[in-house]
Amino acid sequence: MSALRDAVLGLLRVGDRATQVAQSLMARVRLYAEAVDVAEGVTLIGVPIVQRAPDSRIDIGPRVVLCSTSRATALGVAHPVVLRTLRPTATLSIGADTGISGATICAAVSVQIGARCLIGADAMIVDTDFHPLAPAGRRYAGDEGGIGSAAVVIGDDVFLGARCAVLKGVNIGAGSVVGCGAVVVSDVPSGSIVAGNPARVVGTVRGGAEKAR
Ligand SMILES: CC(C)(COP(=O)(O)OP(=O)(O)OC[C@H]1O[C@@H](n2cnc3c(N)ncnc32)[C@H](O)[C@@H]1OP(=O)(O)O)[C@@H](O)C(=O)NCCC(=O)NCCS
Repeated sequence: MSALRDAVLGLLRVGDRATQVAQSLMARVRLYAEAVDVAEGVTLIGVPIVQRAPDSRIDIGPRVVLCSTSRATALGVAHPVVLRTLRPTATLSIGADTGISGATICAAVSVQIGARCLIGADAMIVDTDFHPLAPAGRRYAGDEGGIGSAAVVIGDDVFLGARCAVLKGVNIGAGSVVGCGAVVVSDVPSGSIVAGNPARVVGTVRGGAEKAR
């Protein structure tokens, strides 16, 4: 009986591997079609959703891992990684060795993510409110000027917990940790642990930064 189970498991593994290879190829084609700048050693697990506004930039640094499937990550993900620039001149950059699981990152101005960051399952990083706050024009707005937007910067070695949200204008200092489900609306000092809604400092990270390669 266990020999049969082993054989079935082996077959499933072969199927999983074949799916992974096909999806990785599809992901490469998608990034190529969107003219995303992809450095060497990037790992694509599943197919991310990528949309680049004309004349904007999306850069993915060396050895970045984008995980868009639940099978490949302990927590599972609710959707593939989403990378979007929303306006011309917007920039979205992901630093070397950063790992991202099913997160959504949207840049209307600029979202800059440092090196060696961990972006937890289904985190959301956005630098815009997407719609004006005034009811007039909120539904069918054409005026980008009325939409609150400001650059987001996430320093090196930052750990974003699962399902947190980082909103417009936030600067997260190097080495910090953002708790699961936190809503970050203001700057986070380097080396802090923040949690809650709105996120507040609840602790300090011990230990130095990981050595860069
Ligand atoms: C933020 C976190 C790292 C803090 O861990 P910690 O340093 O051990 O902190 P503690 O458990 O001692 O909590 C410190 C305080 O913050 C609060 N807190 C901790 N995590 C919180 C959270 N996610 N939301 C709201 N409050 C939180 C605690 O209630 C406690 O408050 P108190 O001092 O008033 O009692 C941890 O709670 C967390 O969210 N881990 C999940 C990380 C994650 O999402 N991993 C998956 C990524 S794919």
